[in-house]
Amino acid sequence: MSDVFFEEMLNELFNGIKVHGHPFRTVSLATVGQNAKPRLCTVVLREVTNDLKLTVYTDSRSQKISNLLLNNQIGLLMYDPDKLLQVKIEGQAHIVKDVERLDTSWSNIPTNSRRDYITHHSPSSEINNPSSVEYLNNDHYFAMIDIVPQKIEYLKLKRPHHIRVAFEKEHDTWKSTFLVP
Ligand SMILES: Cc1cc2nc3c(=O)[nH]c(=O)nc-3n(C[C@H](O)[C@H](O)[C@H](O)COP(=O)(O)O)c2cc1C
Repeated sequence: MSDVFFEEMLNELFNGIKVHGHPFRTVSLATVGQNAKPRLCTVVLREVTNDLKLTVYTDSRSQKISNLLLNNQIGLLMYDPDKLLQVKIEGQAHIVKDVERLDTSWSNIPTNSRRDYITHHSPSSEINNPSSVEYLNNDHYFAMIDIVPQKIEYLKLKRPHHIRVAFEKEHDTWKSTFLVP
């Protein structure tokens, strides 16, 4: 019976990458920083595979990459305010090393969107003015992060009952349990 919720959650994730303006297009990514400090940022969901691997893009010099090199445990949070649907994901992040895949994704990024990965100075460097950022011409710091979910939690607020379901991956299948919301 909880399969319908898993299917719904999966559909929403796919719509996040396909449907313009879908609330799951941008997700909150939690990483663990130095001294176990929690760190959050917004990222765009770029790819979702049928076996539920999620991919986001970033600058390889960003702090989230340094965090992931120390600790690859992540959290993802998505929320649709119209459907009152929240999806929480816990899992492991893997920085993509496959050069062919990186090259293919990079070549598919429109030129004017490449600026996010070609700043002369690293993200978080101090500048005097937002217009004074310098860009590289022949180099980039494009990086991809694959996220492999281990636990997923679906929560929908509705009448007469809120619905909260935990999905946990066990030997490649997802075991589901209803929870008190
Ligand atoms: C709407 C929105 C979408 C964003 N998408 C991305 C993204 O896809 N990848 C990314 O690295 N940063 C993205 N950012 C910026 C991050 O939230 C973050 O501020 C930046 O990457 C610096 O991260 P760091 O603290 O890990 O260095 C986005 C910010 C906003 C407001």
